[in-house]
Amino acid sequence: MELNEVLLARRSVRKYTEEIVSDDMIAQLMHAAMSGPSACNIRPWEFHVIKDAEKLTQLRSATRYSNITAPLAIVVVGNITGLPRVLAPYWIQDCSAATENILLKATDLGLGTVWCGVYPQEQEIQNVSTILGLSDKQIPLNIIHVGHPAENPQARDQYDSSKVFIH
Ligand SMILES: Cc1cc2nc3c(=O)[nH]c(=O)nc-3n(C[C@H](O)[C@H](O)[C@H](O)COP(=O)(O)O)c2cc1C
Repeated sequence: MELNEVLLARRSVRKYTEEIVSDDMIAQLMHAAMSGPSACNIRPWEFHVIKDAEKLTQLRSATRYSNITAPLAIVVVGNITGLPRVLAPYWIQDCSAATENILLKATDLGLGTVWCGVYPQEQEIQNVSTILGLSDKQIPLNIIHVGHPAENPQARDQYDSSKVFIH
């Protein structure tokens, strides 16, 4: 797909078929994720790829709005172990950029995704950390549900000129 087509076609998908996401597609998503920008190129990200049915079930109730049945989930985690205090807070931007790359690459591959927020909700961070066995230096940003779409939200352009300020 051409880039502009991918940008407009990326929509949140909340209904999926049971077809699994191939390992080759997962690898492509991981390459896209790690192509993102990162403050001082620290790359504090981790990508926890969840295929296990039991863990997928647990993740569905880990946050208030993540009850989505997809064959795969990717939890994007910021690992701030050993980072200088001045750099550590940038994990959020770094992991967000990586997340958007995953969403766009998935769209390009014909997959659906939805970004379900975890950070900064304390209880939801704790729920996901318990499921994945994370330390307090590994902070889950989101759960991205991934799969073959069973619904087809239309591509759309949300351009709004009132949000643009030329100085
Ligand atoms: C930080 C963040 C958190 C989100 N959390 C959820 C969520 O918990 N559950 C959900 O179904 N969608 C979630 N979304 C998806 C938004 O609802 C969605 O992006 C928005 O409605 C725009 O629709 P679109 O993605 O189809 O363009 C989240 C998106 C972002 C960026």
